[in-house]
Amino acid sequence: MIVCSCNVLSDRQIRNAVTETQAVRTAGQVYRCLGCSAQCGRCARTIRKLIDDVNASACGGCARECPVSAHAMPAE
Ligand code: FES
Repeated sequence: MIVCSCNVLSDRQIRNAVTETQAVRTAGQVYRCLGCSAQCGRCARTIRKLIDDVNASACGGCARECPVSAHAMPAE
């Protein structure tokens, strides 16, 4: 699915950028990693959601103090 119509970026490209680099934490870093830049900015919220989804799915091996793991784990 195309997430960014200005730069023709798909959700798969974005997920791969976050997964493969592990240094991509913001929408701006996603654009740079994929060789483009924000144009209209309408996709930024969706890109941030994809980043959170990828990071949350990787949880389990990191410390409980990790802000991503706290987001993904149910309250005890
Ligand atoms: S839709 Fe991504 S910058 Fe416009």
